[in-house]
Amino acid sequence: MDDSSALYLGLISGTSADGIDAALASFENGRPQLQAALTHPWPQPLRERILAVAQDEQRLDLDAYGRLDVEIGQCFAEAALALLERSATPASGVRAIGSHGQTLRHRPSGAFPFTLQIGDPSVIAERCGIEVVADFRRADVAAGGQGAPLLPAVHAMLLARPGHDRVVLNLGGIANITLLAGDGRVLGFDTGPANGLLDAWCLRHRGEAYDRDGAFAASGRVNEALLHELLADAYFALPPPKSTGREHFHLAWLEGHARLAGLSPADVQATLLELTARSVAEAIGRHADAAEDVLACGGGVHNPLLMRRLSELLAPRELHSSAAFGVDPDYLEATAFAWLARQRLLGLPGNLAQVTGASGPRVLGAVHAAPQSPSSAG
Ligand SMILES: Nc1ncnc2c1ncn2[C@@H]1O[C@H](COP(=O)(O)OP(=O)(O)OP(=O)(O)O)[C@@H](O)[C@H]1O
Ligand SMILES: [Mg+2]
Repeated sequence: MDDSSALYLGLISGTSADGIDAALASFENGRPQLQAALTHPWPQPLRERILAVAQDEQRLDLDAYGRLDVEIGQCFAEAALALLERSATPASGVRAIGSHGQTLRHRPSGAFPFTLQIGDPSVIAERCGIEVVADFRRADVAAGGQGAPLLPAVHAMLLARPGHDRVVLNLGGIANITLLAGDGRVLGFDTGPANGLLDAWCLRHRGEAYDRDGAFAASGRVNEALLHELLADAYFALPPPKSTGREHFHLAWLEGHARLAGLSPADVQATLLELTARSVAEAIGRHADAAEDVLACGGGVHNPLLMRRLSELLAPRELHSSAAFGVDPDYLEATAFAWLARQRLLGLPGNLAQVTGASGPRVLGAVHAAPQSPSSAG
């Protein structure tokens, strides 16, 4: 298949469910290049339902589940259509959409490991008139992997610096790091919580979806006793491969810690920010000590307090936004799902088995035909 001029469109809503990121990418020598992107807002009531279900505050019966799947699919389709319109791209100019969907559960360990992303891909294909690849994580989990993280392969393509060890740090709802070793080796795993907990605490005590610029955290003081208790969670000491999500690091997890009692909400916010910074810095110190620099992406790069603490803890390594290296920190993930869709159509693997722990490379994702699929179109 010669698709050197084809565009692919990536869609994802991450664990923060802060919005649906859509990215249109072209490819040069297999490397994705971002052409256009936007973040499409969730209707607030739908976002609240997603978060409640994802952190187990609300149970779903089968009817509610089926309906949620379609509602999310419709919103993903709207995000894709908005990007096509804004970039004046006809649907016929897009070879495929790679849709991550919305994660509701991620339990990649145990006797019946699974990971669940929803947002009906057939609805997206029907509304957009474009073939959709979705369900990227399941094949990796079936092969004994974590199904996550899937970004390291794209980090390696776009940000590796041969001869030098470098870390790419994604500050999403959860934080994950990719070690790009100077000799070409790639490792990566979720370090633990990031914006997800900060958002949840801020919403509860401030009524705001996130702590803009870290102002709420800056008004409090880190409580070392609580921080110590939180850092004792077994997840932080687990060896990679490992991945986690909202089903573990949520408000009920935080509230299960005795040291929370009596603290002011601002002090807790400050402590949660410090928890993110310390757990990331410790993971880098333990697994990527030789890294010379750390390139950050994800929404957390916009939190100056978090970036300052990370910068202090990571010194003498330099911390930069990936933007300094020409990679938009807000759309790297969506771009990765455009790349994953292309890998699927080319019949090429999407995972890095040494990262996810799968028993080998796997072609990821299921293809959902467009109403007029390219192969059947005249
Ligand atoms: N100006 C800002 N100040 C503080 N935090 C910010 C700012 N801008 C964005 N953020 C944070 O970034 C979050 C969104 O980040 P992002 O989209 O990378 O997360 P995500 O969708 O959960 O991704 P992932 O799938 O990687 O977990 C917001 O929920 C918010 O917490
Ligand atoms: Mg997001």
